[in-house]
Amino acid sequence: MSERCIKAALLGLGTVGTGVYKVLKNQEPEMVSKLGAKVQIKKIMVRNLEKAAAKVDDPSVLTNSWKEIVEDPEIEIVIELIGGMEPAKTYILEALRAGKHVVTANKDLIASEGKVIMDTAAEYGRDFLHEAAVAGGIPIIRPLKQCLAGNHITEVMGIVNGTTNFILTKMSNEGMEFDEALKLAQDLGYAESDPTADVEGLDAARKVAILASVAFNARVAFEDVYTEGITKITSTDIEFAKEMGWTIKLLGVARNTPDGIEARVHPMLIESGHPLATVNDSYNAVFVQGDAVQDAMFYGRGAGELPTASAVVGDIFDIVRNILAGCCGRIGCTCYKQIPVKKIEDVSSKYFIRMQVEDRYGVLANIASVFGNNCVSMAQVIQRRKKGNIAEIVVITDSVEERHLKDSLAVFQGMSIVKQVSAIIRVA
Ligand code: HSE
Repeated sequence: MSERCIKAALLGLGTVGTGVYKVLKNQEPEMVSKLGAKVQIKKIMVRNLEKAAAKVDDPSVLTNSWKEIVEDPEIEIVIELIGGMEPAKTYILEALRAGKHVVTANKDLIASEGKVIMDTAAEYGRDFLHEAAVAGGIPIIRPLKQCLAGNHITEVMGIVNGTTNFILTKMSNEGMEFDEALKLAQDLGYAESDPTADVEGLDAARKVAILASVAFNARVAFEDVYTEGITKITSTDIEFAKEMGWTIKLLGVARNTPDGIEARVHPMLIESGHPLATVNDSYNAVFVQGDAVQDAMFYGRGAGELPTASAVVGDIFDIVRNILAGCCGRIGCTCYKQIPVKKIEDVSSKYFIRMQVEDRYGVLANIASVFGNNCVSMAQVIQRRKKGNIAEIVVITDSVEERHLKDSLAVFQGMSIVKQVSAIIRVA
């Protein structure tokens, strides 16, 4: 019997595309034994044919024509690694409508337009897999959809952006300020020349939207995720945190509460003994709580050529197995519930608030009364004298709804004794 060869097309030959090409090549000798078929990359769509020619064994697979791929009935799997919204969305929809299965790492697209894509995949009975869209090489989408399907997931929390984790690690361990740590991340290739999506938390927010949708079986879009980045974190905040036994991390938090879903990305103080506090450098980790499994943690490389390619190739192999077993489209969209997403004003958290105040009698009492009048309970106050008549105080609150905290901060703005509120960071 001749061995089956399943043909696929790659869209994009950037970092991840090149990684996928390499991983598939590396797997080639055992593919038939492992899967029962061979996967052949029949076409690779690139913008610059000349530049791409150096990266492949056979440049005749290169094309810049989408039509050549979508109209080729032999191509059964399209691997979209261009990223961004368009033309990726059009290509994915056209590929599904042409009866092809799709693998992507495109978190931007899934986080905002996941529903239309999943609906199209279901309509045409095709697989649409996106393990690489969240936390790179770490398996998390498939575990949530399959291995943990017997749970009601109550919380997914984690470090899902390697660039910001690298920056915060350098700030924490080497006393760097944000700008210096960002420059180092850029020099080492962890951060892009425009680092906005990472440092402002947008990349993490897209991953949280996808994680929450999959974990809670209810669609949460990127636009629903409250997002704060790390640009305002200073070495002073990190020093205070350390003194108090905490570590500052950019966390993605998704919780399914009786009042709705909480979906947010922001810096957070976590106890230095928490498993997530020891996740350093560019590593990612996702902590899951379910009613049956209780706690599970997934840890590893959240980005990079080969780790991300590992997830993409896992999806390709899954599709090959489905094709051979005649069971494609078996696990599609799992968002069968409608759950509202809570507004950040209604979310409760403990806070670390660092402020500069006048250093004289009665000031702390005044501050305490503003908090008290706005339903904010103080758990701890630390004061350090600075030069002149300015004192720096740090207040740790008990858990409070964000709108009450905002009301207090609005009052401070009109008080001459409060010179500045320098940091407001949530505490786990
Ligand atoms: N830029 C991301 C990170 C990787 O730093 O983790 C791709 O999502």
